[in-house]
Amino acid sequence: MSGTSLFDPLQLGPLTLAHRVVMAPLTRMRATRPGNIPNELNARYYGQRATAGGLIIAEASQVLPSGQGSPATPGIHSAAQVEGWKGVVRAVHDKRGKIFLQLWHVGRISHRSHQPGGELPVSSSAVAPPGKVLNADFQPVPFEAPRALGTDEIPGIIDGYVQAAKNAREAGFDGVEIHGANGYLLEQFLQARTNQRTDAYGGSIPNRARLMLEVTEAVAKAWHPERVGIRLSPYGVANDSGEAEPMPLYTHVVNALDTMGLAYLHLLEPRASGAGGRDVDHQGVPSAAELFRPMWRGVLITAGNFRAESAAEAVARGTADAIAFGRYFISNPDLPERIRQGAEFAPYNRATFYGGGPEGYVDYPTMDEA
Ligand code: FNR
Repeated sequence: MSGTSLFDPLQLGPLTLAHRVVMAPLTRMRATRPGNIPNELNARYYGQRATAGGLIIAEASQVLPSGQGSPATPGIHSAAQVEGWKGVVRAVHDKRGKIFLQLWHVGRISHRSHQPGGELPVSSSAVAPPGKVLNADFQPVPFEAPRALGTDEIPGIIDGYVQAAKNAREAGFDGVEIHGANGYLLEQFLQARTNQRTDAYGGSIPNRARLMLEVTEAVAKAWHPERVGIRLSPYGVANDSGEAEPMPLYTHVVNALDTMGLAYLHLLEPRASGAGGRDVDHQGVPSAAELFRPMWRGVLITAGNFRAESAAEAVARGTADAIAFGRYFISNPDLPERIRQGAEFAPYNRATFYGGGPEGYVDYPTMDEA
């Protein structure tokens, strides 16, 4: 027992967090189109959820036009997007909150209608995901097999992440989180299930991990390691992901990341994987935080189906330094205060998670308003 409380401060590189209740990155598909530009409604939503010294990780945002996989997800590659994000950051900083941006390339979890020139999405290898994807008109359509990136195209992907991190810094963000979870591009390279490459980015564990580590190193160098976190889902199954034997692969990855002096490692517990389209509760799967804590010297954030009590317990035991909440941060804009007071959580409405306007987005009341 470390005896640490959720309301003890936490040092995150140069930032001092006042408490350890973090808002998890949440895709809400409410950017302005065309251009996938963050807007005033988005700023209001994040501002409602900001607390003095609290950390928000803003939703996954495509680093390149080819990194988009759903309609109306914001980007961080155009000047207009940077301007839009400035309004979001201002709303959070006005309440003395901290905000990171999650950097995203979806790889094969996309559709031609989101891609520049209507081209095929790109991935590690030409392996089609099963099932359907929302096209630009919010209609579910079958996935196609993606196009495997050429080795000579990899530097362009890394540059995309680097430029996105610079853009995030320009927009005023306190840092960036590299999305290395949930079956998107970096995981498509990492996991044998999707990576059939025979170049330096496929085959052995070090080869499959290469892109994720090169991206992280390049982003850390472009800004500062203490401004960069990374999210991993070692036992996740979202978007047709999943490594048959996660431990050897993720041990390599976490050990390599540990040498970089990053702001934090953010794990996604397998008991609530994915983007919340449905509840997933894998039984008998080990806690990611418990498994990887011994390999990680820095700040560890974990997420996945936590409640007030289990979050307090995980931090008190030292399993994690902070707990990220997803779904309940949607329906409880004042979630940290509710936890502090031991108040009930308001239920969320899954039907309004993705897309639409203010409903189910900025109309959940705080305790005071209710
Ligand atoms: C998510 N999740 C998610 N994860 C991520 O890394 N980037 C993202 O953009 C999203 N988007 C997203 C949207 C919605 C509507 C949901 C419900 C979830 C996963 C999320 O960050 C979190 O890890 C999970 O929801 C599990 O935590 P909870 O909800 O059990 O507290």
